[in-house]
Amino acid sequence: MIRPADRRAIEEAAQRLRRGGLVAFPTETVYGLGVVATTPKAVARVFAIKGRPKFDPLIVHVATPEAARALWRECPEAAQRLMRTFWPGPLTLVLPKTKQIPALVTSGLPTVAVRVPDHPVAIQLLQLVGRPVAAPSANRFGQASPTTAAAVQEELGNDVSLILDGGPTRVGIESTVVAFEEGRPVLLRPGGVTVEQLTAVAGPVTIGERRAAAPEAPGMLERHYAPSTPLYLLDRPVAGEAGQWRAAGGRIGVLLLAPLTMAFPVSAAQVLSQRGDLVEAAANFFQALRRLDQAKVDLIVAVPMPEHGLGRALMDRLTRAAAGWARVEGHGLLIAGRAEEKDRVSV
Ligand code: TXA
Ligand code: MG
Repeated sequence: MIRPADRRAIEEAAQRLRRGGLVAFPTETVYGLGVVATTPKAVARVFAIKGRPKFDPLIVHVATPEAARALWRECPEAAQRLMRTFWPGPLTLVLPKTKQIPALVTSGLPTVAVRVPDHPVAIQLLQLVGRPVAAPSANRFGQASPTTAAAVQEELGNDVSLILDGGPTRVGIESTVVAFEEGRPVLLRPGGVTVEQLTAVAGPVTIGERRAAAPEAPGMLERHYAPSTPLYLLDRPVAGEAGQWRAAGGRIGVLLLAPLTMAFPVSAAQVLSQRGDLVEAAANFFQALRRLDQAKVDLIVAVPMPEHGLGRALMDRLTRAAAGWARVEGHGLLIAGRAEEKDRVSV
């Protein structure tokens, strides 16, 4: 059930969490599906409801930097600087864990990912619960993250009995995940805090490889954030050739950063920002993907985003949403399809 996140609803949510229940709640990035992190039974239900593989660890949410610090064995200088600058906010730090967080939360890893969200509802909830709350994005595994309470309902339906509605989320993409090697930051997932911002505060950032914790499952996380409609990511911005787009008997939906001036023979279009602004684009991103998925098009074509600022995080999401769909380019012809399927788009 969706309830406006007033004080009474937040109190009820806190009580449910303390009793081992699940609650979906807003953060500044995306909606999370929360459980008390120290209750393994409740954590197991989150994995089950999301259909999430056990080797993909969860992020733990706390109300203050001090509460975060208590969950780690150590905290290098660079991490302290990042916490001071970006918390509360869309930054998750991965550091060696104390015994307090059960292995199920961290998929058996010796580290735990923690963040302090920048959302009044999330903070009030965390204060009332008084315990760390593990919360993955409130979507089924591999699907687009929800940025509204209605999107949570679409994703999880009756599997979650209480969804706190705090309106559309401000940032719109998930937190940046940073680990540390010999005290130096390693980027595990681009997100709401940009690489440029991290570098300014903590020095050069190594771009880490984002992969499953279980080595026997390489590439399993490659396809992610994906709508059910095939999505093709173009390798360059569209120009005049878009006028000739044609899908074999199909309807095309297009995802654009900014409006195009040319005529566009597509059935549905989502423009992320009228001004081409990446902050606004990130805020609209997952909702736009959902709308295109619901527009009953046969395929979605996405244009590439600029690879700086939040554009890097958007490209990460788009690359994963497009994974699994073959893409062969040559002489302006894009042949796309899952293995032997014969969808063709002339570009
Ligand atoms: O913005 C966000 O981070 C949202 C909101 C709800 O806070 N949460 C979120 O959680 O995106 P989730 O579960 O969808 O993504 C968690 C990411 C995964 O990529 C996971 O592999 C990584 O964090 N992660 C968690 N613990 C880790 C660890 N100990 N080491 C490395 N990566 C970790
Ligand atoms: Mg997620």
